[in-house]
Amino acid sequence: MKAAVREPLSIAVLVSGGGSTLANLIARIDTRRLRGVRIRRVISSRAGVGAVEIAQRAGLPTTVIRKADYASLRDFGTAIALQLDADDVELVVMGGFLCLWDFPPRYEGRALNIHPALLPKFGGRGMHGMRVHEAVLKSGATESGCTVHIADRLYDHGPIVAQQRVDVLPGDTPESLAARVAAAERELYPRVIQAVADHGLKWLRRFQRAGGGEPLS
Ligand code: GRF
Repeated sequence: MKAAVREPLSIAVLVSGGGSTLANLIARIDTRRLRGVRIRRVISSRAGVGAVEIAQRAGLPTTVIRKADYASLRDFGTAIALQLDADDVELVVMGGFLCLWDFPPRYEGRALNIHPALLPKFGGRGMHGMRVHEAVLKSGATESGCTVHIADRLYDHGPIVAQQRVDVLPGDTPESLAARVAAAERELYPRVIQAVADHGLKWLRRFQRAGGGEPLS
């Protein structure tokens, strides 16, 4: 009997900046290294950024939703959710998204974020970009890495789904460490999204239970 062909997992990518995370997902889907996934919408919190150009060049439906245009974080979060509803999005993928998303309950457990460090260390408000790698080097840590977690309503918080470790090498600069972590991100995020595409959103629930599934590594 022919195996039932699953509908592709419909995702939206939330962006704010350069769009390297989005570009990687587009490339993986285009080269069939990420299968059964369809980007239905790109939502950017800023206009005129690289991520918007990348999305438009790829022909992806793209919307700018700016926090400054809303009276509250809740209204901003609801505006994002209403766009996702309209696109029938199943999984929300944050890629360089720099805002808090105060999502309505229906999106609980359906948003992922990636952070360029081994959370819970080196995360939280203001910890993004080179600041993260500067802090890691300053701490004398001998390893760093990246973390995919279920996004909640705080910065870099929520149950960890997967981590990929990288060495901190003698003589590392924030830039050299950032490049090594970014290479790990380019592998780890598609692996997690592929697992959701293969097993459904329910696969994420194990990480939400206290002491749930061991993070992927
Ligand atoms: C990466 O450091 C990632 O971990 C974090 O945002 C950065 C990528 O931003 N979430 P972008 O995708 O290039 O905009």
